[in-house]
Amino acid sequence: MTYDFDTIVDRRGTGNEKWDGMEARYGVSPAEGLALWVADMEFLPPPEVNEAIRTAAQHGIHGYWGDPGPYLDAVAGWMRRRHGWEVRPEWIFTTHGIVNAVSLAVQAFCRPGDKVVVQPPVYYPFFGAITANGCEVVNNELVRVDGLYRMDLGALDRMVDASTRMLILCSPHNPGGRVWSRAELEDLAGFCLSRDILILSDEIHHDLVYEGHTHTVLATLDPDIAGRVVTCTSASKTFNLAGTMTGNVIIPDEGLRRRYQLQMTKCGLYAPNRFGPLAAKAAYDHGEPWLEQLLVYLRANRDLVDREARDKLPGVTSMPLQGTYLAWLDFRETGLPAEEVVRRVQAEAKLALNHGATFGQGGEGHMRLNFACPRGMLREALSRLTRVFGAEGSEMAGGRGS
Ligand SMILES: Cc1ncc(COP(=O)(O)O)c(C=O)c1O
Repeated sequence: MTYDFDTIVDRRGTGNEKWDGMEARYGVSPAEGLALWVADMEFLPPPEVNEAIRTAAQHGIHGYWGDPGPYLDAVAGWMRRRHGWEVRPEWIFTTHGIVNAVSLAVQAFCRPGDKVVVQPPVYYPFFGAITANGCEVVNNELVRVDGLYRMDLGALDRMVDASTRMLILCSPHNPGGRVWSRAELEDLAGFCLSRDILILSDEIHHDLVYEGHTHTVLATLDPDIAGRVVTCTSASKTFNLAGTMTGNVIIPDEGLRRRYQLQMTKCGLYAPNRFGPLAAKAAYDHGEPWLEQLLVYLRANRDLVDREARDKLPGVTSMPLQGTYLAWLDFRETGLPAEEVVRRVQAEAKLALNHGATFGQGGEGHMRLNFACPRGMLREALSRLTRVFGAEGSEMAGGRGS
């Protein structure tokens, strides 16, 4: 079966954050603007997902969810088939998405005043999950080597102390799309083990990895590491189910699991919304052919963004993405102040993109563009960027030409 990623589905007026929330956040009206920000996709999920939701809706009675077994087996099956990790169903907690999972982990494993390391620029809700729980953010900024982000373990070594309790790893990394190599992960995990720092490994983008790169589940490196890692995954990025708010937290270590369970109980979290696991199970069970075609489509979109940035947007660099559908555009060489970049993107091109500075240190002067959309929509967005940042656009504004 060939899946259709080209048809534009109008999402406006359906109560979704990306389109219906863009004007409030970016001042770009959905009537004339394009939403290429928050990380969900403009594609229908595998047909079996909507079939499962339709069947449940048609049954019509939406009582408490109480049959987690088949869902947990589906998660374990996915991790075995796609990621080579044997997960026992009893290791898995089902949370209200991964931001919820991260916050629960901070509450479960840290005390107010403890330090938690993040590696910015990085998915920004991590900052809130740490500070709102009374902990302190330690920023180990990523360094750029040959145009790609790398972790700076030397700097990390100088930053941590006895109150550094946890490190939140984003793997693959958002933004910048690094798929961390096995060797990089081994170095990081070895360091954290030696300093008794727990790792929360947010692997929500684990399936969105391009040819030539392999995602390594951190917990598969060795049993000692698995005992100090809390792994977060979800079907939501892979299959475009973000609104179902269903996340997996996988904890092999029994002691850590007990503490996490206690925090879930304290928060009264004992069952997910029944539609989330039904949708995700259908995706895990039937969605692999869809995912394979999605990855081909996304790779072509990624290459299109890179080509257009290189050929038509003087001074703009697109970081080569190894995974994720989130292009990370560096505007600093345009010579334009960050506010002017934002003004052109929003007021002139009428595009809603994430502002780089939101992602913390190192994000300044960047914009994040979500290219998980039909190619026609992406071409339109890129031609608008060319109009306002291309050689002509730059000259009009007195900036650098090509
Ligand atoms: C690294 C990362 N973690 C978590 C999330 C969000 O997870 P959820 O919607 O399940 O809370 C995102 C969404 O973009 C993400 O990029």
